[in-house]
Amino acid sequence: SSVYHVSPSSQRSPQAPLSIGLLGMGAVGTLMASHWRQHKVFALPRDHKSVLTLNLFTPAAQTAEQQTAEHQQWQLPCWQGEPLDWLVLTTKAGDTLTALKPWLNHLPRVNNLLLLQNGMGQQQQCADWLAQHRLHTKLWAGISTAGAYRRAANNPQGSEVVFAGAGQTIAGRWAQENPADNDNTDTTPLPPGIESVRDIPARMREKLAVNAVINPLTAVLRCHNGELVSNPLYLPQLQALAAEVADLYQQLHWPLSQDLSERVQQVAQATAANRSSTLQDILAARPTELVFICGYLQQQAQSLGLTLPLTARLMRQLSD
Ligand code: PAF
Repeated sequence: SSVYHVSPSSQRSPQAPLSIGLLGMGAVGTLMASHWRQHKVFALPRDHKSVLTLNLFTPAAQTAEQQTAEHQQWQLPCWQGEPLDWLVLTTKAGDTLTALKPWLNHLPRVNNLLLLQNGMGQQQQCADWLAQHRLHTKLWAGISTAGAYRRAANNPQGSEVVFAGAGQTIAGRWAQENPADNDNTDTTPLPPGIESVRDIPARMREKLAVNAVINPLTAVLRCHNGELVSNPLYLPQLQALAAEVADLYQQLHWPLSQDLSERVQQVAQATAANRSSTLQDILAARPTELVFICGYLQQQAQSLGLTLPLTARLMRQLSD
């Protein structure tokens, strides 16, 4: 693959330049930052001082117009507290507040904070934390289905991310978990590459339902996503867990736009060769995000006096 450096003039942006901070340099963060080359982008590294180098590899197969693989490399200066239109946080759900706390003194200069993560529960924790510190930063939440992963190679130069497939990244204002309380009229332009939606909690719940089936099952069974459908021993487990989650959604009056078992099978098939993010975490001995997926649903169930026996059993198996 050939390395080249995209000059800012080679990409056009319809917007005036935004100033954007990026907290969390994983796959999603790097992919997002590649859309922001026309903008003023800052990194929020743990040491509060280093310049960050990002590497994004796009295999030839991912772009119709390109014959060759592409390697983009660029650098982000460290944020020194300049006013930010957006701070985009892409850490693991469980690291949200830990990542934000060291930057507390600079946060009054952030207009909008976008949590672009898997899972639910951390958005409300963050909203409470902002209120507790009397910060007027507007909170947004989003989800991404774009495929990207960090390459195992440990590059001392910075993160190495491979773009594995186009997807959609959506976000909306997060005022309350109750959609009726959300501010649907906010027209603040989102950073490029992110589509604005009016019903973000509902959209997140739909994704959460799918993750609450695929992620714990693939983690316990140690299988690729596709095997949940192709293995006749696994499919009934998928169906039973989907039924448990769908029942809870019905009790909570959280609509699902499609039969959950069908939806889960479609997603598992569309991502057949992938390992779920939870299985990847387990294989890499990292903490999983299941507390913000299954654990969040268990809390919701508990608030109605219900239990989720299949979910609880999977969670127990994973904690052993
Ligand atoms: O968490 C994941 O891995 C993904 O959301 C999904 C859809 C389950 C595919 O692997």
